[in-house]
This record gives sequence, structure tokens and C-alpha cells, in this order.
Amino acid sequence: MTQKRASFGSKFGILMAAAGSAVGLGNIWRFPIETGQHGGAAFLLVYIAAIALLGIPLMVAEFFVGRNARTNAAHAYRKLSSHPVWRNIGFIGAISGSLILCYYVVVSGWVLKYFVVSLDGTLGGLFRPGDASGYESLFADFVSSSWSPLLYMALFVLMCHFTITAGVRQGIEKLSKIFMPALFVILIVLVGFSLFAPGAQEGLSFLFHPDFSKLTTRTVLSAIAQAFYSLSLCMGCLCTYASYFGKNVNLVNSALSISVIDTLVAIMAGLIVFPAVFSSGINLESGPSLAFIALPGAFHQAFSAVPWLSWLVSTLFYALLVLAALTSAISLYEVPTAYIHETWHIRRSRAALLVTVVCLLLGAVCSLSMGILGDIHLFGKTIFDFLDYFCTTIMMPLCGILIAIFVGWIVKRDVFLKEVNTFGPNPTDAAQAGRRWSTVILFLLRWVAPVLLLLAFLGVLGII
Ligand code: TRP
Repeated sequence: MTQKRASFGSKFGILMAAAGSAVGLGNIWRFPIETGQHGGAAFLLVYIAAIALLGIPLMVAEFFVGRNARTNAAHAYRKLSSHPVWRNIGFIGAISGSLILCYYVVVSGWVLKYFVVSLDGTLGGLFRPGDASGYESLFADFVSSSWSPLLYMALFVLMCHFTITAGVRQGIEKLSKIFMPALFVILIVLVGFSLFAPGAQEGLSFLFHPDFSKLTTRTVLSAIAQAFYSLSLCMGCLCTYASYFGKNVNLVNSALSISVIDTLVAIMAGLIVFPAVFSSGINLESGPSLAFIALPGAFHQAFSAVPWLSWLVSTLFYALLVLAALTSAISLYEVPTAYIHETWHIRRSRAALLVTVVCLLLGAVCSLSMGILGDIHLFGKTIFDFLDYFCTTIMMPLCGILIAIFVGWIVKRDVFLKEVNTFGPNPTDAAQAGRRWSTVILFLLRWVAPVLLLLAFLGVLGII
């Protein structure tokens, strides 16, 4: 195909699109749950260390592969190596990323539903002080019913579909440039409200005063998994996006900015969730249902004196989740779409249609595994839980080890350094300034990431 390849239009657009991929349900839904279950501030510290030592180097590595190859994730690794192990990293990642998409859209559908029921006042109407049974049955009935979650999921998938078919610049970049600033505004407003909630003090000290006795191997493993998930690592998203970057983009700085934004958003989500949780005395370990059962009650409890304020806070919170989910889901969508478009030489809109159909079918199976397909178990887990476990706990660290070894040891040092140090109007000057950082990144990729990830992987498998 001699057709010119798509690219992002501006550096701001690149930052918003990549940060949009990173900032998602992982930050606002998963992070507070994980932090709550693993002891608060101690978990946060390990999480930040995982971002710095593993997340940023691997993000630079993925950016390097994508921009160097200028093609979809599966082909990018093939351009750099013909060895059967290394050439297939991208393909394995792309398949795993596509599987993540199939259950990500299910939870995104729930979020969309909760935005609607908050907006129309249903959530407010169910509030009874000290009694969450209304929220419990709303959630349980909704996820286990057949049609309603499928409908919301389909609606969400269609939103992704139309963004992707609009193209890289007109779809992904434009949407991210509008939605990400909107997300930050909502986030800041919500943090402002939340700091005045009655449980604010307790929430803050939970998040910022570490209790190191809570640190266990499990905490460390969960922090690494959360860091990878939150930064969208190893599943082809960042590699595919980087294939649309111009040569003037500073890969190390971009990785740094995206990681800082992502971590700040996670902390701010904690600042919103924990005060609400503490003010209403909810059990912090309530797990995945936190956002759908505990939080609606917590928001209404925290602002019970001013009903319109509790309506506003809860509606804004779910709007925030919808925006975050959408910008992340489209990055997962782009991986198989770019692959099919470039491999089968079919139009982008047809490739997207194919992804949409498969995603709807597999998404429906995941969704129904909470209800009528609940009896089907894979390795003792429902289909939904199995996919999440398989992709995030097995495939992510595995691909992380392979990417770190590949970029750190197999790719020629000069090729890596030249690509990473090429940016700005005068690449040679810039190369001098950036060289130090790129060697630090290379060191981490060679010596730190493979070892830590291998230990984490063996830990997950229960071998150590
Ligand atoms: N990072 C996103 C979040 O925090 C989810 C996501 C998007 C993702 N792309 C990914 C997770 C690739 C793993 C791999 O919600």
C-alpha cells in the first residue's frame, strides 16, 4: 500500500491521546480498590516505585519500537527481529490487548448505566442512611440480567467504533483533546468537594501515612500489576500510538509526563473516594463493587444535608468514569484495527467494523458470565474473571519481561539510543542533552526490569 500513513497532528494531541490511554477505569475504579485492600500509603509508595523503575522504562521501550517501525504493534517487532521469540511479542501483546478490550467494554457499560441512573435521580432515591441494600440489589440485578448490561455495553462499543472510524487525527486525537481537559476539570472540582466531606482527614491520612507493617509480597505484586495496567503497558497500545508520533517527539519526556499525569489522576481519584468512604464507614475491602454499591451511598451520605450537591457529585463522578473509560478503550481498539487494516489491506472502517463485531460477541459472553453463563468456569473462575486474571496477571508481566530483554539486550544499543535521542528541530544538540536519560532507561531495561518482573511473575505463580 503506498497510501500515506496516519499520524497525530500536534504534541499536545499526542500527550492527550497517550495520557487518555493510560488514565482510565484503572485509575479511578481499580486504583482506590487496590489501595484500600493493600493498606493505603504503603501500597502507594510501592506503586510509585514500580512506575519509576519498571513503568517508565517499558513505556519508552514501547514508544521506541512503535516509532522506529512506524507500523502496527504486531508488525513492529517483526521489523526489528526475525527470531521466532522476539518477532511475536507484538502479536501476543495485541491479542492480549484485544481480550482486555472485550471485558473492559463490559465494565464501561456499567459505568455508562450508572451515569444515567445518577443523572435521572435513581441513585439519590435509593439512599437510606446506613443501609446499602438498595444499591446492592440495583447492582446485583443489573449485572446479572441479560439485556440491560448488553445494551449499555453495545452503546459504549458504538462510541468507540465511531471514534476509531473517524481516524487517528480526526477521531482519537480530537476526542482526547476535548475529553482529557474535561476530565481534569471534573477531577479538580470533585477533589475540592471531597476535601470538605466529613471523612476527609481520615481519608488523607490513609492515603499519605504509610504503615509498613502492611507491606507483604502480595502488596508488591499487586502494586506492579496495577502500575502496568494503569500505564497501558505491554499490550500494543503505546507501541501503536507511537507509530503515529512524529520524529520531533521526545520519547523519554513524553513517557515521563504521561506517567506523572497518570499517577496524579490515580492519587486524585483516591482523594475523592477515600474521604467519601471514611465518612460513611464503608468497609474498605469491599472490592470491585466499591464504585457501584458503596460509593453512591457514600456520596449521598457525605453530602446528605444538601441533596442537589450529592446528586451533582455522584453524576460528575460517573461522567468522569465514562470519559476515562472511553479514551482508554479506544487505545485498545486501535491495536487490532491498525493490525487488520495494514495486514489485510482493507479499509480502516471495515477493519473497525470487524473489531466491533468480535468485541460485541466476546463482550456479551463476558457480560453474561455474571448471569446466565455464571456456571461456566475456566480454572475455577468465571469467564470475566479468568480473562482479567489471564491478561493482567500472566500476559502483562510475561510480555514485560520479553520487551525489556528484547529492547535492552537484543536490539542494537545504537539503534535504540539514536531513536530515543532524536527529537526537536536540531536532533544532534538534543541528542547530547537527552543521552544521559536514555542510558539510565537502557540500564533499567537491561538489569532491573527483567529481574524484578521475573520475581513478580514467579510470585504470582506461587513459585517463590
Ligand atoms: N490503562 C487503562 C486504565 O487505566 C486501561 C488500558 C488501556 C490498558 N490500554 C491498556 C490496560 C493496555 C492494559 C493494557 O484503565
